[in-house]
Amino acid sequence: MFRAAAVSTLALSVVLPAFADEVNLYSARHYDTDFTIFEAFTEATGITVNLIEASGDELMARIESEGVNSPADLFWTVDAGRLHTAVERGMFQPTQSDVLEERLPSDLRHPDGLFYGVTTRARVIYYNVENGRPENVNTYEDLGNPDLGLTVCLRTSSHVYNLSLMSEIIEVHGEEVAKEWATGLLGNLARQPQGGDTDQIRGVAAGECDLAVANSYYWGRLQVSQNPADRETAARVLPIFPNQDDRGTHVNMSGMGVLANAPNPENALAFIEFMTTPTIQSILADQNNEWPAVEGVSVAGPMRDWADFTRSDTNVAVYGTNQATAISIFDRVGFP
Ligand SMILES: [Fe+2]
Repeated sequence: MFRAAAVSTLALSVVLPAFADEVNLYSARHYDTDFTIFEAFTEATGITVNLIEASGDELMARIESEGVNSPADLFWTVDAGRLHTAVERGMFQPTQSDVLEERLPSDLRHPDGLFYGVTTRARVIYYNVENGRPENVNTYEDLGNPDLGLTVCLRTSSHVYNLSLMSEIIEVHGEEVAKEWATGLLGNLARQPQGGDTDQIRGVAAGECDLAVANSYYWGRLQVSQNPADRETAARVLPIFPNQDDRGTHVNMSGMGVLANAPNPENALAFIEFMTTPTIQSILADQNNEWPAVEGVSVAGPMRDWADFTRSDTNVAVYGTNQATAISIFDRVGFP
């Protein structure tokens, strides 16, 4: 059985009924196929899934306002940087699971079991196929080269996707080099940052910028769009997976953790474990044109042919622990 309750404001406070075998999932990620997954989980375990959907920020505020009486067992959102915000606010409890340790690569698990990645995405560089692949662009570092000779489109630096990327740059190179990189990148911007990741890809397709930085699934989404103009945009660009000859491409994830006041922590952990079974991994990844967190699981969507790349093994928790420094560096160089 499966019950859904969508909330758009915090004023709406739904008191979930008590069931012995249930798990209450607060999710910022929602797709129609979620229902299939929840039903399969109930079938396998006898545990009912109660779903509360809202944005990540709304859910975090709600969990905090509910406090010790919160019925929430699990919080599911995108980007390890955002999951880290929940960690900082003391919202998760540490967990241990042999199943998750065996199935998930260590870089996609919080070291204390506070959260686990269930799907992955890469932050890649796009170029216009008409211009051909630029020879001097192979790494994120290249984007900050003052002699790049190419323009770059990027959404605002305050967005968590860019903060997570910067957090990894800091981890690899230290603050000083990261600051130089941000300064160089600022000088290479094609325009004032505007819009989301899709708008940056559109910028390259339209010739407004030579390069764009955007998450992989936005390109996948354009490829399978119902709108022919989107598919045309997708066809005009190709990705460069950066840093294939050294540390690998910056990878992020959607992930979830068991909440500190969870009334059903065992059920919550069982739910996360279920999310890492191969069939569910394929469904989850295909929902959003991502890749599975579990290695060796295939996908059917447009990202199938792009799954084979070297991924950085920087632990995603770093995207959170370096986040404040990332914000400060972007601020100091006046990056919009
Ligand atoms: Fe996104």
